[in-house]
Amino acid sequence: MKTRFTSATPILFIVLLPALVTAAESDAGSDGKFSRSLSPESLGLKREKLTHLHFYFHDIVTAQKDQNKSTAKVAGAATGNGNSSLLTFGNVVVMDNALTATPDFTSKLVGRAQGIYASVSQSETSFLLVLNFVFTQGKLNGSTLSVLGSDPILSSVREMPIVGGSGVFRFSRGYALARTYSFDLVSLNAIVGYDVFVLHY
Ligand SMILES: *[C@@H]1O[C@H](CO)[C@@H](O)[C@H](O)[C@H]1NC(C)=O
Ligand SMILES: *[C@@H]1O[C@H](CO)[C@@H](O)[C@H](O)[C@H]1NC(C)=O
Ligand SMILES: *[C@@H]1O[C@H](CO)[C@@H](O)[C@H](O)[C@H]1NC(C)=O
Repeated sequence: MKTRFTSATPILFIVLLPALVTAAESDAGSDGKFSRSLSPESLGLKREKLTHLHFYFHDIVTAQKDQNKSTAKVAGAATGNGNSSLLTFGNVVVMDNALTATPDFTSKLVGRAQGIYASVSQSETSFLLVLNFVFTQGKLNGSTLSVLGSDPILSSVREMPIVGGSGVFRFSRGYALARTYSFDLVSLNAIVGYDVFVLHY
């Protein structure tokens, strides 16, 4: 995974942020006030940075000899044709998918994609994707990014909004570009490359 900052990064700030509760945060509410104005500086917010993340997402629908299933179908519409394909309109799947540095499943694990996808289009194969990227490596360990997007899986590039984040990614916004690297029509297992661009402090 590649992280790039547009400006010199205040190292201490990044390292401490996930664990740090600022004075402004710990004082909140102690004076009985429901709402108040704060300066961004009081939360340690300085210059906004742009970070690019690149990783691969492994959607394991059918277990393989070296890979456990990482998805579970939890609901489906009564379509009447007995079609249990995850692609069928109305199906809802929960995932805990590995995110790795390269398309190789055994390459460095950088985090997990934890969330839900639901087949939501009656005219094409398209999912509603609601997930958190939960990062587990280096300075991103414990930080998350939240995605809420439309994923028409047969399109070569799908763009999905990043609607927020936590830890290093507090106050983040941005977008993810998803490109299918491989998709097996029999197992339905897929590897998807993600390029994520986020603005955050
Ligand atoms: C699959 O799950 C089993 C049981 O939890 C575990 O022992 C095994 O290491 C897992 N395999 C992989 C490749 O993660
Ligand atoms: C099941 O649904 C999928 C997606 O709509 C479709 O591609 C597949 O052909 C269907 N299979 C059967 C047996 O109807
Ligand atoms: C990530 O953070 C967790 C919880 O603090 C810790 O147990 C784990 O060892 C960390 N992982 C890495 C790779 O730093």
